[in-house]
Amino acid sequence: MAKLTVSDLELQGKKVLMRVDFNVPIKDGVIGNDNRIVAALPTIKYVVEHGGKAILLSHLGRVKTEDDKPGLSMRPVAERLSNLLNKPVTFVPTTEGKQLEDAIDGLNDGDVLVMENTRYEDVKDGKYVKRESGNDPELGKYWASLGDVFVNDAFGTAHRSHASNVGIASNMTQTAAGFLMEKEIKFIGGAVDNPEHPFVAILGGAKVSDKIGVIDNLLSKADKVLIGGGMTYTFYAAKGMKIGNSLVEKDKIDLAKEILDKAGDKLVLPEDSVVAEKFDNDAPHKTVEGDVPDGYMALDIGPKSIKTFEDVLKTAKTVVWNGPMGVFEMSNYAEGTLEIGKFLGTLSDAKTIVGGGDSTAAVQQLGVADKLSHISTGGGASLEYLEGKTLPGIAAISDK
Ligand code: 3PG
Repeated sequence: MAKLTVSDLELQGKKVLMRVDFNVPIKDGVIGNDNRIVAALPTIKYVVEHGGKAILLSHLGRVKTEDDKPGLSMRPVAERLSNLLNKPVTFVPTTEGKQLEDAIDGLNDGDVLVMENTRYEDVKDGKYVKRESGNDPELGKYWASLGDVFVNDAFGTAHRSHASNVGIASNMTQTAAGFLMEKEIKFIGGAVDNPEHPFVAILGGAKVSDKIGVIDNLLSKADKVLIGGGMTYTFYAAKGMKIGNSLVEKDKIDLAKEILDKAGDKLVLPEDSVVAEKFDNDAPHKTVEGDVPDGYMALDIGPKSIKTFEDVLKTAKTVVWNGPMGVFEMSNYAEGTLEIGKFLGTLSDAKTIVGGGDSTAAVQQLGVADKLSHISTGGGASLEYLEGKTLPGIAAISDK
């Protein structure tokens, strides 16, 4: 059933609690990548333009000790948001109490406030009490009391049951999705539940164990599942092929065999690989078909595999891509990932959905991001969604 969204709410003059996922990479107070902040702007702007008082909550990093707090303050995020919105944003350096309540009371219609990292609540008086990440009922109730309505736009956090998403929702009569959440549900949820066929999934990354849930679920939904990245060689080992010094999860070889038996020709493995003598961009390397020779490790898919993958992809109507095809951060082993990203940008008749850090970085580096239907802001959340799991953050949003 469709979810209630922010555009269904009356916002004028309301205190609008908004859970966003501003968990961005940050080092020494400098934000490395503000994609998640940018992705939340449409909902924040909508609330502001409709006369709501936007009160933003997000976690940042993992707070386990008092010492973790200073480096994980939300202050730089609030500053970046202010720049992006081109308007002042009030930052409140606390997560509860009079200072926060007074600041909220002082908001005018259309103002924006960011409170301190919700995970500061995980550590109290030096103890790791996990009030936020353990969904302490009193904390969710308290935060809910600060607003009139609740909008959850934090798809990246939807796989967590925190006080600031599920806890607040359970204390409000209604919870609405923000526009980002709505888009993530439409594209990822749509691909999993009701894909237009042919549906092709491209799954990469180092480990079978990280992707097994996704492979399993998508084998039952997709017409083809294309495998790339380091996990290929656990499948090679399962087929009795030689893998040289390539990455392998020995304890997952039996599992890989089971998947291969079950999948039949639905699962497509790379037929060639770029192999190198060492895990080094400048190491001697070459392309080989099939077995990886002794003394070499496979670090990318080869040109024949790229061509085969493109042939499968060109008739697709729905494509989901998660995970790199090779060691994308080294230029000599980036081609598989880059070529797949480039090709997805040409598929104008298909819904193209990308998730995961490296695949997202690849499409952004190539400048094809705006040619794709959807680039997910979720890491763990998009994987669990693709696994077919119910995400607590989404389940807590009201139906329309
Ligand atoms: C993420 O980046 O995947 C989300 O923000 C959740 O963060 P977490 O893994 O620290 O819970």
